[in-house]
Amino acid sequence: STNEPLKVMISGAPASGKGTQCELIVQKFGLVHISTGDLLRAEVSSGTEIGNKAKEFMNSGRLVPDEIVTAMGTVRLSRQDAKEKGWLLDGYPRTFAQAQSLEELNIRPDIYIVLDVPDEILIDRCVGRRLDPVTGKIYHLKNFPPESDEIKARLVTRADDTEEKVKSRLEIYKQNAAAISSTYSSITNKIDGNRPKEIIFKDIDSLLFQLLKDKTAKSVKP
Ligand code: AP5
Repeated sequence: STNEPLKVMISGAPASGKGTQCELIVQKFGLVHISTGDLLRAEVSSGTEIGNKAKEFMNSGRLVPDEIVTAMGTVRLSRQDAKEKGWLLDGYPRTFAQAQSLEELNIRPDIYIVLDVPDEILIDRCVGRRLDPVTGKIYHLKNFPPESDEIKARLVTRADDTEEKVKSRLEIYKQNAAAISSTYSSITNKIDGNRPKEIIFKDIDSLLFQLLKDKTAKSVKP
């Protein structure tokens, strides 16, 4: 088909629910999920050169240098699946420089979603978060406990999910957020992320559905 696939960026503070919403978006829209956090954690756990460089920054809750992230992100975006199915960028770009690099390559989203969650909620979400290393699924000890004891036994905690590190990640997020949003202000949609995840997804779902409809309408016009 001549339809252009969807291109989506999702942003928000640490633990605002980006990864959680991305699971739901991918299920419904089939976009290629590109999370620089997930990619970097995979590099760290397989002990690659990128991983070794990124590790200390991540473990202390600081951002990984732009040149590392931009190289990794743009390589992933250039793969065929992302071109065919469309993409969903999660936690990337994260600085003005990263956003500018994408602009220079003409890589621009249809929509820039910002999940808005009050600071005091974010700390609790991080401290209670657990990840399933087998399925990659995101859990929370109180909000989304695992389905079985077998899953529960294998859950892991992220090294940067302590209260102190979350506070520093949040500060860094705030320092960068304004600069990035200037790049995408005309396509920004702020969403209240302090609601049940299914309700949040309903809002995102209707935004993306409308975008797809607009794109289809454009492609059938003479
Ligand atoms: P990254 O992995 O991107 O971490 P983050 O942005 O801090 O975001 P999180 O993964 O913590 O949270 P999330 O918004 O995905 O929330 P989640 O859905 O898990 O980055 C990690 C590090 O990598 C960075 O600090 C940096 O060092 C490096 N890095 C990554 N990208 C980079 C870049 N572009 N440039 C430079 N460095 C980079 O949800 C959180 C918890 O809340 C879960 O337990 C979940 O179950 C629960 N929850 C979710 N939604 C709800 C809800 N609606 N109600 C109740 N609970 C909920």
